[in-house]
Amino acid sequence: MKQNTPQILCISSGKGGVGKTTFAVNLACALSDRKKKVLLIDGDLGLANVDVLLGLNIRHTIRETIEEDRDPSSILVEITPGFSVLPASSGVPEMASLSYEEQAFLTNALDGITGMFDYVLVDSAAGIGESVLWFNNWAQQNIVIVSPDPTSMTDAYALIKVLNTRQQKTTFHLLINNVKSKKEGKEVFDNMSAVLSTFLKINPLYLGALPQDANVIKSLRAQKPYFLQTPDTKASRAIREVAEKMIQNS
Ligand SMILES: Nc1ncnc2c1ncn2[C@@H]1O[C@H](COP(=O)(O)OP(=O)(O)OP(=O)(O)O)[C@@H](O)[C@H]1O
Ligand SMILES: [Mg+2]
Repeated sequence: MKQNTPQILCISSGKGGVGKTTFAVNLACALSDRKKKVLLIDGDLGLANVDVLLGLNIRHTIRETIEEDRDPSSILVEITPGFSVLPASSGVPEMASLSYEEQAFLTNALDGITGMFDYVLVDSAAGIGESVLWFNNWAQQNIVIVSPDPTSMTDAYALIKVLNTRQQKTTFHLLINNVKSKKEGKEVFDNMSAVLSTFLKINPLYLGALPQDANVIKSLRAQKPYFLQTPDTKASRAIREVAEKMIQNS
């Protein structure tokens, strides 16, 4: 089997409900539409969401990989050719309950499958708990989603500060979600950038802004990615641009 050196990106936000899962699922669709092979890992080990957004009926999860020594490639779910999901389970204790041995096993297991893909996206949990830190450390690139809501901005700042001080991460890509205009997206980015550069000496990179779009919520109810359901809606056009930018930058 062909082995790639994949780009591994962790998507987080600090504050919950900012749009991580929706972004991760649709970005995966947009990248695979550009003929990239994409693995989406549901990194919310306690309250999985990726399966819900995709309307999947999950039988095996990351937990079995760890507990039953299962090969993770055997539990991958193919959504479209070139887009696969590694599902997590809902209602089980969080990463904090994993021993060092189990964490090492997980690293090995994940490293064993990522070579089949061009992009590996991790949809992480809300907050700054153990799993969020673990997946951000494992990933090479860190995407932080922020909305124009001030609490989202302060929580994103707190997350970046923790990743910077505990893991020496210095490069962050900011994605602004739920904006009313491109101008608003750039303003939120400029505000975050000013604060990060003043207090942490970090200059974040601008990944783009996604508009507030009623089709996003409709697609959630239909349990189908908006990129597939309404490919010409403004959110789909914006996510196509983000995917293009990522491909150009790689
Ligand atoms: N660009 C957008 N336009 C309109 N609604 C959006 C947009 N992005 C996300 N939403 C809506 O916001 C809600 C939260 O989205 P989502 O579940 O992706 O957030 P999350 O950050 O993954 O949440 P959690 O922290 O609970 O995992 C959903 O109802 C989703 O449809
Ligand atoms: Mg989520």
